[in-house]
Amino acid sequence: MTKKQNERKGKESNAVSLITLVDKSSPVSEQYRAVRTNIQFASSTDKQIQTIVVTSSGPGEGKSTTSANLAVVFANAGQKVLLIDADLRKATVHKTFRLSNEIGLSTVLSTTQNIVDAAQPTTVDNLCVLTSGPKPPNPSELLGSVRMDQVLAEVRNHYDILIFDMPPVVTVTDAQIMASKVDGTILVVRENVSLKESLVKARNLLEMVQARVLGVVYNGAENMKDQGYYYYGN
Ligand SMILES: Nc1ncnc2c1ncn2[C@@H]1O[C@H](COP(=O)(O)OP(=O)(O)OP(=O)(O)O)[C@@H](O)[C@H]1O
Ligand SMILES: [Mg+2]
Repeated sequence: MTKKQNERKGKESNAVSLITLVDKSSPVSEQYRAVRTNIQFASSTDKQIQTIVVTSSGPGEGKSTTSANLAVVFANAGQKVLLIDADLRKATVHKTFRLSNEIGLSTVLSTTQNIVDAAQPTTVDNLCVLTSGPKPPNPSELLGSVRMDQVLAEVRNHYDILIFDMPPVVTVTDAQIMASKVDGTILVVRENVSLKESLVKARNLLEMVQARVLGVVYNGAENMKDQGYYYYGN
């Protein structure tokens, strides 16, 4: 394959870069650990943060990159983590972790499939992944179903942290639905990609469902090695 074809293949695959695995001591990895610390501090005994939605206003802003790397750093801290690909429209987590996507969240929500059995271990200690499963015709209905609430209640007993990779909040209602069900939401903002009016809209949509926005992850750099992520807590 030529270099160009290889690059195209890489783009099509949608696997995101796990900098926290390949370069643990890089400044960007350090920023992910800082986000983890901020989330841990936001958690209190009466307001435990166990379930976290990661979303952004629009497409391609770094939701999957942020959720996957956050999952890795939480797992590295000894927490039992389940990363859930709740982007049932544009699933990528199975590609990033090179896992089968035959069974996943869509299967769990539309059949009697047990969620804990459907979760797959990864090469990272303490980190399991629930892939999206086959693309369903009705993602919003599945995420908003009573079955989702039951599944969430059950899976909470098996993991310390559950991280949901979501679609953009302004485009479809899925992230809004999940944000209303979880303990906290993280909004990813990408330099030169996120639009100001979209951001305001995102914030309003999350407020509408009384989502607890834990903070904004600023996915700033074109070259991820030079700059990193900045986190603003509330
Ligand atoms: N800071 C960054 N610098 C350079 N490339 C980045 C950065 N953050 C993400 N990317 C790349 O941009 C692309 C989109 O990132 P990612 O898949 O994480 O975004 P997303 O918000 O999940 O997108 P989608 O809306 O399609 O789900 C990926 O190829 C990813 O590797
Ligand atoms: Mg994504």
